[in-house]
Amino acid sequence: MTLAYRLELENVSKHYGNTRALESVSVAIPSGKIRGLVGENGAGKSTLSKIIAGDIRPTSGTMKLNGVEVPYLTPTSARRAGIAIVHQWGDLVPTMTVEENIFLGNEIHGSFRTLNKSEMRRRARAVLNELGVDVDPSLPVSELSPAHKQIVAISKALVRQCDLLIVDEGGVSLDTKETVLLHAVLRQLRGQGVTIIYISHLLDDVVELSDEITVLRNGALVETLDANSTTAEDLAVAVVGHEVRRPSREEATNDFSQRRTLLDVKGLSWTQDAAEFSLKVREGEILGITGPEGAGKSELLRTIFGLVPPTRGTVSIDGNTIGSRSPREMLNRGVAFVPEDRFAEGVLLDRNIEENISLPKISFEKRFFLPTTELRAEAVKKAAQIKTKMASIDSLVSELSGGNQQKVVVSRWLEDSYRLLLLDEPYKGIDIGAKDDINEAIRAMASAGRGVIVISTEFAELVGLVTTLLVIVNRKIVSTLTGPSITPHEIVRYYQYEVETPSPSFEGTSPPAAMS
Ligand SMILES: Nc1ncnc2c1ncn2[C@@H]1O[C@H](COP(=O)(O)OP(=O)(O)OP(=O)(O)O)[C@@H](O)[C@H]1O
Ligand SMILES: [Mg+2]
Repeated sequence: MTLAYRLELENVSKHYGNTRALESVSVAIPSGKIRGLVGENGAGKSTLSKIIAGDIRPTSGTMKLNGVEVPYLTPTSARRAGIAIVHQWGDLVPTMTVEENIFLGNEIHGSFRTLNKSEMRRRARAVLNELGVDVDPSLPVSELSPAHKQIVAISKALVRQCDLLIVDEGGVSLDTKETVLLHAVLRQLRGQGVTIIYISHLLDDVVELSDEITVLRNGALVETLDANSTTAEDLAVAVVGHEVRRPSREEATNDFSQRRTLLDVKGLSWTQDAAEFSLKVREGEILGITGPEGAGKSELLRTIFGLVPPTRGTVSIDGNTIGSRSPREMLNRGVAFVPEDRFAEGVLLDRNIEENISLPKISFEKRFFLPTTELRAEAVKKAAQIKTKMASIDSLVSELSGGNQQKVVVSRWLEDSYRLLLLDEPYKGIDIGAKDDINEAIRAMASAGRGVIVISTEFAELVGLVTTLLVIVNRKIVSTLTGPSITPHEIVRYYQYEVETPSPSFEGTSPPAAMS
């Protein structure tokens, strides 16, 4: 029996000047299967998807849909051919409701050109029901969890009769439970004959979900693997091109109780339903914070940094209580913050990489007035530290791949003048090799006596890195893990306490020295 292919690409290339985003890639994707697509930041995954969806035109190559060669697609002809992309960011209008988003640009009209709202609500509900998710179509999208947002974006594609769905950066910033939900929806669609291309840096996820996995490296096809006989470790090797050794925990058992306290948070809270948070970060300490989506992790960090006004409690830096905190005040005291939503709060797409990396120096440290050659050299060094893939330091940030844009913003803050670095989800959209590079930079900061707080839902990164880990559920610290007790198994155990009260063993645990 010959396989029916939904999509075949032959020798597809895309060049931007001297940059070879894709070079002679040939892949064939069978109908009704889930094809994983992986590769380092800048490997060409999004370029390939955009070509399939008609958003960009390839430099050369041919494409077949259902065995028939087609001319290069436009967004409109791709949509007519049943192709849709769901991006992790954007796409949905946050202030509009679920049903309005699902039918945006594809509205159902009643008589006299009025909108048939009840019909749209009925169909929106039907699509969501069919996917087995319980979302109220009249809610604004801004109130949904990240997984539900992705599912709404998928529903929007489905009402347009899409049967070739590309999910670019699925799974990003989803916690364990939400990932399970997204996978269930995608499997259900596969069951209905939809062909899915699933792009992610979370290799465990890709192995778990896909039927076959295609690996790209530097714009070229490396191989396509059968997901059943592949492990996440095998896949990591295929992605980076050499053996990957996840660093082991060395510092984690160190005792920090004798070190100087950099940050001392006492009884801090920001809303009625949040508990009072107390924590300390000492010199050389890396404090991890994890917990399900919506648990209050970012709110806590933002309150510490002065972006959210506290309702009670104190924050001290170097033993001095800072009364009315503002981000500027905190920066002046050597505290830096990298927010989760870097696109809303930090990256200047129409400026070059050097300007983006040097931004904090230009805006906050004018008084030091560094000569431009020095700024440039520093920007080059920081970009190289986490292997930012770029044509040159003068390239516009808009020309970088998604993950490399994130690297630019993170690398801004990897430096000596901050004594305490607060990072909110720094690994989002970042490839496996670069995650190690970021962790390496964090460890170097800690060994030099600086303090770091890292929020992440990626346990695998935190386990090898942090000295103390707080698990936050429902705006409350439900567990403080230290040293050898920081294992994925332990973490997940506490994740479950979303409704139940914390376990007796937690109540009985005396807080470790670092958290006193
Ligand atoms: N408009 C553009 N101009 C110049 N180069 C570009 C442009 N768009 C993409 N590139 C380059 O093409 C290459 C592939 O980028 P692409 O976005 O496909 O990577 P990716 O695999 O999706 O990476 P990520 O995991 O970071 O999202 C990168 O080197 C990128 O800098
Ligand atoms: Mg991409």
